[in-house]
Amino acid sequence: MFTFDQVGNFSVSQLCKPARVITAVNKQLPGPALHVHEGDTVVVHVISNSPYNVTIHWHGLFQRGSQWADGPEMVTQCPIRPGMRYAYRYNVTGQEGTLWWHAHSSMLRATVYGAIVIKPRVGGRGYPFPKPDREEVLLLGEWWNDNVVDLEREAFLTGNLVRPADAYTINGKPGDLYNCSGGRKHHRHQTHNLKVQSNSTYLLRIINAAVNTPLFFKVAGHRFTVVAADASYTTKYNTDVIVVAPGQTVDALMLAEADPSRLYYMAASPYQSAVPALPFSDTTATGTVEYVGQRNTKQRQSRLVMVRRPRVNDIATAHRFLSSLTALVRPGGLTVPLAVDTRMFVAFGLGVSDCRKGQTRCRRNAPVFAGSMNNASFVLPTGAVPLLEAHYRNVSGVFKRDFPDNPPVPFDYTKPPARLGFTAKSTRVKKLRYNATVEVVLQNTALVARESHPMHLHGFNFFVLAQGFGNFHHQDAAAAAATEKRYNLVNPQERNTVAVPPGGWAVIRFVADNPGMWLMHCHFDAHLPIGLAMAFEVQSGPTPDTALPPPPADLPRCLD
Ligand code: C2O
Repeated sequence: MFTFDQVGNFSVSQLCKPARVITAVNKQLPGPALHVHEGDTVVVHVISNSPYNVTIHWHGLFQRGSQWADGPEMVTQCPIRPGMRYAYRYNVTGQEGTLWWHAHSSMLRATVYGAIVIKPRVGGRGYPFPKPDREEVLLLGEWWNDNVVDLEREAFLTGNLVRPADAYTINGKPGDLYNCSGGRKHHRHQTHNLKVQSNSTYLLRIINAAVNTPLFFKVAGHRFTVVAADASYTTKYNTDVIVVAPGQTVDALMLAEADPSRLYYMAASPYQSAVPALPFSDTTATGTVEYVGQRNTKQRQSRLVMVRRPRVNDIATAHRFLSSLTALVRPGGLTVPLAVDTRMFVAFGLGVSDCRKGQTRCRRNAPVFAGSMNNASFVLPTGAVPLLEAHYRNVSGVFKRDFPDNPPVPFDYTKPPARLGFTAKSTRVKKLRYNATVEVVLQNTALVARESHPMHLHGFNFFVLAQGFGNFHHQDAAAAAATEKRYNLVNPQERNTVAVPPGGWAVIRFVADNPGMWLMHCHFDAHLPIGLAMAFEVQSGPTPDTALPPPPADLPRCLD
């Protein structure tokens, strides 16, 4: 059992600025980590003193049988209002590795987030790799010097995107490239320092909790062996750079075998494929790796080993990492379903729409940024009934079951049709039969900028069968068949968030064996409220344990 009993004001000082009040959990930034074992039952009591509405999402957990605990505001629940509480109850079954939790309400996830560490069950078969000597969570984040809820509101009212962050962070700390006094100085209090022992192996649990930016992660003088991603074990993959998109996690082993008399930088730096089309924060979060048992710190600081960060738009490095991972096949695990019941081709990206409801400061005929999937720009229910409740109680008028399986016009990346740029707002879901095998081609339209959007699915992991650049060619049967021949059906990586290549596509497949209402959306926080989302409505199965359970008694209610 865990208690988030102080979701509310916390005063922190960052980047040499005076202290500022943020919403945080239990007066910690990042928030408390949940350490659990596979098979555990978890109860988290959330008590809010925040001035804002809040919900908590357990990113990557399936929530089988606990669908009302998933957390996205107005999808599975009404917000927890100031002064109110809700107990999230769920089982952690069939997943091991690293996940995380975050607010799923306004832009609060910038400061309301923490790790979920799921170890193998006690007495079970353990890790599929030699037990590391120590484990370390590294939560990568993004920091703004302003109140993020105000920032997002301002962006919404004007129809703009939220401005780039002021800094990236490692475990809440921006590192020593930000100095208050001019001149490079080692600021210990704002730098995450990992102490290591020579010849020991560290399991680094790296989480991209950043709001809008994919990140490169490196440690000077050290290499990694990736062993898991999104709480799914991978075939061992050796690399000196790790790439994590917002929402994703990577578990990597790092052997501490460098010259112990020196101090090594770790760095989290931005990956923005759309540079220079889009503004981004050109800063780097730094931390240090320090070998213990070495006395002379003064001398060591002068022997800092710098890290060379990848170019901000180094698409090749990012793609190599993201497309090279494969699943580790263990006895009894991983069977890719071969017969597909439902096929969808979803062209998604940024475009424009008319002023959104409630936008006061955008002019009638001046279009504003909007995200869309198959030209539908998703809006959450604005009434008092969240999607899951509308599904459960059969309330009509909350959503429509007509999310299109294909874009309204054929998509061609080389000459993107203008009609895909202008979108209409709606709340359209795709209804799925229980246990249907679903394949979705996610085609990035890149109409506005060639970004790599991290597409996240709630309630499931999916297999990433293939990914590539340019057109998927779904209109051309022969070309599509040729691409299908290249699908990895043997050991595709299993994920809950796929970084779709910039101006490219990814093919995902999953089995809809989890009844409920599940969002699929871009995990750039700035793209969710402008509509780069849709939802799957998965029907209940035939037996009681495959049916959606009734809502818990303490489920928050909306104000009418
Ligand atoms: Cu981690 Cu819907 O999000």
